[in-house]
This record gives sequence, C-alpha cells and structure tokens, in this order.
Amino acid sequence: MPFPTEAIESFITAGYPILYLISWEEERIENRLKFIGKKFYQGSLNFYTWSCTDGMRGEDGEVKGTQDVIQALDKVIDNNESGFYIFKDLHFFLNDPKLIRRLKDVYQKLRSSSLNSPPLGSDPRSQSPNTLFILSPSLILPYELEKEVAVIDVGLPDEDEVRMFFDSVLNSTSDKIRDSFTPELKEKSVRAILGLGASEMELALRRTFIGREKIDENELLDALLEEKAQLIRKSGTLEFVRTRVGLDGIGGLENLKEWLEIRALAFSPKAKEFGLDIPKGVLIMGISGCGKSLCAKAVATAWGLPLLRLELNQVYGGTFGSPEEVFRRAIKTVEAASPCVLWIDEIEAGITRSGEKASDSPASRIFGYFLTWMQEKEHPVFIAATANQIDLLPPEILRKGRFDEIFFVSLPSQKDRKEIFRIHLLSREKNPDSFDLDSLAKNTEGLSGAEIEQAVVSALFESFSKRKDLDNKELIIAASSIVPLSTTMREEISKLERWASNRAIKASK
Ligand SMILES: Nc1ncnc2c1ncn2[C@@H]1O[C@H](COP(=O)(O)OP(=O)(O)OP(=O)(O)O)[C@@H](O)[C@H]1O
Ligand SMILES: [Mg+2]
Repeated sequence: MPFPTEAIESFITAGYPILYLISWEEERIENRLKFIGKKFYQGSLNFYTWSCTDGMRGEDGEVKGTQDVIQALDKVIDNNESGFYIFKDLHFFLNDPKLIRRLKDVYQKLRSSSLNSPPLGSDPRSQSPNTLFILSPSLILPYELEKEVAVIDVGLPDEDEVRMFFDSVLNSTSDKIRDSFTPELKEKSVRAILGLGASEMELALRRTFIGREKIDENELLDALLEEKAQLIRKSGTLEFVRTRVGLDGIGGLENLKEWLEIRALAFSPKAKEFGLDIPKGVLIMGISGCGKSLCAKAVATAWGLPLLRLELNQVYGGTFGSPEEVFRRAIKTVEAASPCVLWIDEIEAGITRSGEKASDSPASRIFGYFLTWMQEKEHPVFIAATANQIDLLPPEILRKGRFDEIFFVSLPSQKDRKEIFRIHLLSREKNPDSFDLDSLAKNTEGLSGAEIEQAVVSALFESFSKRKDLDNKELIIAASSIVPLSTTMREEISKLERWASNRAIKASK
C-alpha cells in the first residue's frame, strides 16, 4: 500500500482537525508528515510531537509543562499558530473521560480556526492547517469520538517507497558498492526486503552493506533474505520460510500438482492482461504424514514466490499484543510482502478453540476478520492451508469463494509409494535404480509418505552400523517394523475419507 498522502491531504483540506493514523512505524510517519507539511504549507507550519515520557517537543525543543496528556492538549488549544501535532502514546489514555472531553475541545477549537482559513479549492499553501495526529499501532477509539476523528490505516512501505529508502541508503555507501548495483539487482533487492517496516528495512540494508567492498549478487540477496527472515520472526506469528522442496519432491498427488502447475503462471502481468484472476488459495486436508505441509511448501518454490508461515496459535498467546492487533499486523506484513504464499498449517487449531464459542471472543472476531480478508483481499497473496480434523472446521470456511479448491490427501497408492521411495533414496545420495522399488512399494501397503521416509532413515542407520551398503532387505525390515497410523487410526481415517468423498477433490489420480 502506498503511503496515504492523498487521504491525509484531503482530510486536512476538508477541515478534519483530528486524524488517527494506524501504524507502529512512528519514525516513518513522523518523517512523512513533516514531508507533507513542508511540501504543502511551505515553512509556515510548526511541528510538535508528544510522547508520555518526553512530553511535547517542538522544533525549538521541549515545551514546558506538557508531560501530562491533558496539559499537552491544552497547549494545542492555546497555540494560535498553525501546526501538526503528532501524539504518540495518546491511545493508552483513551479510556479517560477527561481526555475524551479535552479531545472534543481540541476538535472545536481547531475546527473553528480551520474554518477561518481560505475557502476550499484555493491554493492549499494559503491555508494554515491545525491538525492533531493520533499515532497508534491499533485502533482504540471510544465511540464518543467517532464523529470527531478520521481514521486512516497506514500499511507497510510499498515498492515505490522501498525504492526510495533503498536509494537513500545506497547514497550513503561507498562508490564501489553503489556502482556495482545494476538496475536488475536493485529491483531484486527491493523485492527481497518488501514486507519490512521502514526502519527495519534501513537496518537490514545497512547491516548487509557493512564490511562489504563490492557486491556479489547471490550473497547479497541471501543476506537480505536472511535479515528479513530474522526480523519477521520477531513478530512472533510469522515465519519467513526458505525452502528448496519443489513439486518434484512430492510423490503422487498428481491432481494437486497439476492444479498448481496450471496456476503457476497466474501471477505474471501477461495473465492479468489475459483476464485471469489471481488464485486465492487451496485447502489441503487429509491423513497425517501424507504430504500436506510438504505441498504447501512446494507451492512457493514451484511458483518462485516467498513463503510466509502464519502461526495462528501464537496470535492468541498474548505475548506479542492483543490478538486482533497481532493478527492485523501479520496480515499487513503478508500484504506488503506480496506476491507471496501464506502458509497456514493446521488451520482448524487456530480458528476453533474450545471454550471460546461466544460470538465476541477474540477467536471468533479474528476468524470473521480472516474470512472477510480472504474473500476481499486485493493483494496477490495465495493461501496454502492444511487441516487434519475437518470436523473442527467451521462450515463458512469451506464455502465456495473462499478457497479455490479443497483437496483431500489420502494414503499413497502402490505407484505413489514407489515414487516416494525414489525421492527419499535420491535425497540421501542413494541411486534408486539399484533397488527393487516395485517390491518395496508392494510390501508397504498402508504406510504414509512420512512413514516411508522414516523406514529409509532407520534402514540407513542399521546398514551403517553393520558397515554395509543399504539394500532392499534392510528397507523391507525397517518398513515392516513400523506400525502405521493407518492401522492405529483406522476408524478416524475412514471417517475422514467418507467426509471428503463428496466435498473435496482427490489429490491423487
Ligand atoms: N507424497 C510424499 N512424497 C514425498 N515425501 C513425502 C510425501 N508425503 C510425506 N512425505 C515425507 O513426510 C514428511 C512429512 O510430511 P508432511 O509434513 O507433509 O505431512 P502432513 O500431511 O503435513 O502431516 P501432518 O498432518 O502430521 O502435519 C515430509 O516432509 C516428506 O519428507
Ligand atoms: Mg503437516
């Protein structure tokens, strides 16, 4: 989302004296507001910021006696010059009746002063706006103030803004570094850091440039992505997953793979010209260990998009803020990093929580927000969700229009098992052709992909300890010592299969 400069200007021009900006990026907002003020009102404007520790500060330093928020608002009322007043911690106090009243007074005062300014449509420079900005990471607005306050949601920097940051950081580096940036590398670097806040971005760039004499493309992009991974992890709910598994690392599941291959091109500008919709997402459900999470990861690799994993459970943890705020922030990050794949593993665990059935519980509010977002999202974010216990899923989420398709992943067929053996032998430096894959597949009926992998791993241990090469016999022994989930959970699995038979598409052919 671009910085909402136009929205801010139009509210100011229309005479809105109090604007509530939702963002946790204080420094960026301050800088942008200063920029807007200077651009439109050329030097005639005073800037003040207020925080609960520093009180009010203007360009000449501290304003005496403004530590208290009410006193600071009194100063705004008494001040007869035009100005931008940026209040940073005001939202913490918004349950105080005195403060609400004082804000109404501010509204009256600033509004009447702005009504005395030149009429609408005249040169904005001839106006002298007096505007109070409330800056807060989340929207906490008592209904008494709803009429007085205009709310603007500020997203994370978009590509254009990132490019600007990039140039300004680059300008402060050595000539050698600057010269080694081709336009292509610059674009790739910009894409790599999308999804971060402005100051995080600057930090990531500076850290990657430090100590470098010149730029090695792969190394630089890798370092930037690593910085981004670390910064995103700090948010607590999102993880930037870097994976190499592609669709060829999945045995079987041809229907699902074909579906994904066809849609791989949907993110190109050509597809847009052609009139293709960007796919919304898939829900992959089914038996444990059969490759659901694996598919979610493989989508991102196959489509060449970044993969962000959302931990819905952490959203409710409370460690990182109120659930609504944390969730909203995660969504903003995901949107800023788009086009990307958002992976939500075991979605049922995150949206259905025992004992929280009440309609206004955080879980149900977040679920509602999530559904609306899914349906209306404009950013190219593809959701790859997995679910094990479909009976816990609320029916709304299964409705058409939410996910493009629901796939059911069942136990691998004999042909699939052969392929899965091949994949896991190959990934462990063994030549699959030196094994009798047909007999292995035949003798492992009922085993899931994860269990086949486990058989390969333990057979490798056995043969290594016996100081001999891995062979068919060792693999069959390892496989037969596994008690498959399909035996221990026979009833659950057949229930799942019955449920899926007319609701979902089979992932395998
Ligand atoms: N079809 C498959 N092809 C190749 N490997 C597979 C396949 N299915 C499972 N595996 C192996 O098993 C591991 C575990 O599978 P995965 O995590 O995708 O299962 P899942 O369906 O998500 O299970 P759970 O419901 O328990 O989360 C994978 O990382 C992969 O190594
Ligand atoms: Mg899984």
